[in-house]
Amino acid sequence: MLRSKLILESIKGAYLPVYDSSNAESVMKKSTRHRQTPKGPPRQKPAPENPIVLTGEQEVQKWHHEKLMEMVTERTNELRLLNEEFRTIFQGLPLGIVYLDREFNIIRANRFFCDLISVSEEEILGKPCYDTVGEHAADTTKKDLEKICTFCKKSICFTDKKPAIIERPLGVRFIRVTTIPELNESGDIVRFLEIVEDITNRKQAEAEVIRMGHLAAIGELAAGVAHEINNPVNGIINYAQILANKSTAGSKEHEISGRIIKESDRIVHIVDNLLSFAKGSSEERRMVCIDDILHESLSLTGAMMRKDGIKLTVNIPPGLPRVIAHPQQIEQVFLNVLSNARYALSQRYPAAHNDKVIEITAGEIKADNASFVQIIFHDRGTGIPPKVLDRIMNPFFSTKPPSAGTGLGLSISHGIISSHHGRIKIESSEGAFTNVVVELPSADGANSEVCGFDNEEMQNGKT
Ligand SMILES: Nc1ncnc2c1ncn2[C@@H]1O[C@H](COP(=O)(O)OP(=O)(O)OP(=O)(O)O)[C@@H](O)[C@H]1O
Ligand SMILES: [Mg+2]
Repeated sequence: MLRSKLILESIKGAYLPVYDSSNAESVMKKSTRHRQTPKGPPRQKPAPENPIVLTGEQEVQKWHHEKLMEMVTERTNELRLLNEEFRTIFQGLPLGIVYLDREFNIIRANRFFCDLISVSEEEILGKPCYDTVGEHAADTTKKDLEKICTFCKKSICFTDKKPAIIERPLGVRFIRVTTIPELNESGDIVRFLEIVEDITNRKQAEAEVIRMGHLAAIGELAAGVAHEINNPVNGIINYAQILANKSTAGSKEHEISGRIIKESDRIVHIVDNLLSFAKGSSEERRMVCIDDILHESLSLTGAMMRKDGIKLTVNIPPGLPRVIAHPQQIEQVFLNVLSNARYALSQRYPAAHNDKVIEITAGEIKADNASFVQIIFHDRGTGIPPKVLDRIMNPFFSTKPPSAGTGLGLSISHGIISSHHGRIKIESSEGAFTNVVVELPSADGANSEVCGFDNEEMQNGKT
């Protein structure tokens, strides 16, 4: 019905020779023979005696009919083509396009929209758009949803009959919906066109800019105070440990010193996290020996390792090339890795055990025609299940309870090592061991100035 109307509309005004009966009669008088010219209607023949012979008028009508049919076919083909083009654009657009009726029920939705909310078009046809989006808005409560819907329906923009723009969280994705009301001749809304953009990447980029601003501020502060706090806190832990050792188990003194250690551990953890934000922007990269940084890291963690009964073995050959680095950032990486190893060992062996050891080895390796200093941290703690191994570097991925981990340690470490043009790799076998391999490029032309140190001195963070 609609299509035939469209076809008729489309041929309106197109050239079609007009039949004029008065003119036809005069033509008939001039010629009795039917002669069809390509430019105009056929001339009328005299009235036939044979009933199957068409009259002149019928011939003209037939000609008109055929011409009309030709044009209808032509226009139908054009429309079909246009329809196909429209479908290709509609389905291929990197934007969600949804048509809604006055009640916000979905009449039509394109592929992008369906993929965005992981449904097929059939599943959502006839359903209110806010329900469809709502079902998948994992972090949107029903109350929020009602608010959104109320906002949708009562938007001033709609009563003004102007497009409305809203932004909604859709689970882990952010969408921007522009709703354009379609009006009839009397200005009433007949349906809505919704354009749905996936703006998650933009939102993430915005959040990243904000985060970087915060981090820079926290980093500056943390870099200044972290070491100042860590050293006295380690002192507190050590003294509390002495008190705990001297007091009898179950006594009030024992319990209080235990609490002091626990709370101090929390301070260490918070300071560690703050320190991780210290990007050292004010600090220049300089030529450093890895063993100096390691020495510093181990002296910070030594007391806690001893407390947990963890032994450290360090095996670094003398004469390693130096690296160009921000020492504070590399120290942060080592602290993160050591803290993870300590946690994994204490989880696997809550009491004393011979395997409660972290082995640190270093060496020079050649890769891609370049020299790297490689440091391996090996622990025989819980190990990492294969199913999470490829996610542990993701920000906020943690298998620890919230009080024990933020899930930032490895992702920050990865960022730091990458910015030094190095690599960090994790090899692990669940229930057996974990190796964290850190590789940093050797400083060019620095081979004459190599590092030398005492492995013994570093064991268990002796300074
Ligand atoms: N040596 C290790 N042994 C076993 N699992 C590890 C080890 N190192 C890392 N992991 C796993 O990787 C996850 C992510 O580590 P990451 O350092 O990024 O965060 P976290 O230690 O959980 O928290 P945070 O470092 O912010 O306190 C850990 O939760 C743990 O599951
Ligand atoms: Mg960690």
